Amino acid sequence: MKMNNEPLKSVLDAIERASSVTSFDCYDAVLSTVSGTARPAGRIVKTRIVDDRGFLFFSNRESRASRHIMEIPHAALCFFWPWINEQMRVQGRIEIASDDISDEAFAALPRGRQLTAWASLQSHPLSSREELMQRYHETDQRYLNRNVPRPPHWGGYRLVPDRIELWKQGEDDLHERTLWRRIPTGWNSELLFP
Ligand SMILES: Cc1cc2nc3c(=O)[nH]c(=O)nc-3n(C[C@H](O)[C@H](O)[C@H](O)COP(=O)(O)O)c2cc1C
Repeated sequence: MKMNNEPLKSVLDAIERASSVTSFDCYDAVLSTVSGTARPAGRIVKTRIVDDRGFLFFSNRESRASRHIMEIPHAALCFFWPWINEQMRVQGRIEIASDDISDEAFAALPRGRQLTAWASLQSHPLSSREELMQRYHETDQRYLNRNVPRPPHWGGYRLVPDRIELWKQGEDDLHERTLWRRIPTGWNSELLFP
């Protein structure tokens, strides 16, 4: 078992390895959350910035995922890059990202997606597609010739990892698994049986 073996470089190297051979967004991952009644749910999100503080992603703060996070502020991300036969699994607690980070990320979205962030009551029942399109067009009119401000219900979350596993497929299922676990002084790393 190695001590204080910082996993960030290995994480960024894996994302780079996966990204170098595809135009697919290798920051997309399954986000798993758990409800207050211990019911798990998974869905894809786009993670954005990955740094020594953690993995950032953005959502509607009234979505089902956000409700879960409010109830149980822990989550997991699972990345799968089949073209290089690698998987990355991350677990940790969730922090709410600062307003500055959320403002910056929202400002970088194309206008159409900014309008949808206002128009969509994410994860809530929708009576018809027309209702959504009407809300979208109303928002478009409201911000005609103006920048679209960030809705108060849209923002970032940071998964602060305490467990990271890189998995590389091996022949005959002899996969390579490297696990990093956070300890008070840094990180432990060890290999796992496949
Ligand atoms: C490729 C892809 C990327 C997505 N990115 C996001 C995202 O960054 N944030 C988000 O809230 N939903 C994203 N979604 C939609 C989610 O998968 C999901 O439908 C939404 O978050 C609502 O899930 P919930 O009802 O469990 O909260 C994405 C879906 C796909 C397929």
